[in-house]
Amino acid sequence: ANTMDRDELLFSYKGILYPATFCSPEVFRAMESLEARSDDIILAGYPKSGTNWVGQILNDLVGIFEKKTQNKESSMNDEELEEFPYLEIGDTGKFERMNKLPSRRVIFTHLLPENLPRSIFKSKAKILLLIRNPKDVATSFYHFSNAMSPLPSYETWDDFFVAFMTKKMPWGCYFEYISKWNKYADDENVMTITYEELKEHPVLGVKNIAAFFGFSPTEKELQIVVERSSFQSMKKNSQKTHGAFGNLLFRKGGVSDWKNHFSEDQNEKMDKAFEEHIGRTKLGRKLKY
Ligand code: A3P
Repeated sequence: ANTMDRDELLFSYKGILYPATFCSPEVFRAMESLEARSDDIILAGYPKSGTNWVGQILNDLVGIFEKKTQNKESSMNDEELEEFPYLEIGDTGKFERMNKLPSRRVIFTHLLPENLPRSIFKSKAKILLLIRNPKDVATSFYHFSNAMSPLPSYETWDDFFVAFMTKKMPWGCYFEYISKWNKYADDENVMTITYEELKEHPVLGVKNIAAFFGFSPTEKELQIVVERSSFQSMKKNSQKTHGAFGNLLFRKGGVSDWKNHFSEDQNEKMDKAFEEHIGRTKLGRKLKY
């Protein structure tokens, strides 16, 4: 929520807008020094697709695995993480620190594939691509933008809708994001999951994610991960895990809240843009709602 001129809140880097409070050109340049590893766990998703949710699942899977294999104390202690998990958010020293972190690292990112450090693709690090239907993404983004001072605020939902559809969003345009990542959707080191399928079948979703990254949790461990990553538990723990942001991150956590926001006309416009830009892509077909 910030009524300051949008130009002062956001800056453009390689044609994409980012919030100046979180990101900077210097950090983008320093990012190339990240030494990705083949066992890194990369979570990629457009903002508001459920990154924190799936991030929690991944961190718990790592925690369980480490406890079993290395007798390490479980990292499931709900404290804020040692290094802020978003690749592109932080200071220029971040990547040197990350290079020293032990495996397995869980790294979140909202970046387009072409803007990731090259070492991620070279190392064949596995990438979990999280996608969510654009109507709920827009709804979630609208509320988040208005609640967060580093992001532009919008007087009305209609104003936000125009910005969302005209590519004026931090981290860029949703449709561009999906169509660029679509080129990687068949890569063997990329797995796609939708917010909607994970919500509907959490046990199966977590099981598939675990298998992709080479974890083999027992049924009981799966249950624990699913239970700890439920919207209710994450919301309850949010103060501990996310500090003051907690209140803003766990809003409704469901499917179809867009129906309380979209006008008929907006719905048609979104459907049309969807068909035009991503309707026939592999990811687009997964996103049909
Ligand atoms: P809503 O605003 O629709 O509630 P991100 O983490 O990428 O910023 O995404 C935030 C969205 O994911 C929010 O959507 C949030 O409520 C939802 N979310 C967070 N934790 C969740 C969980 N455990 N289960 C389902 N949705 C969750």
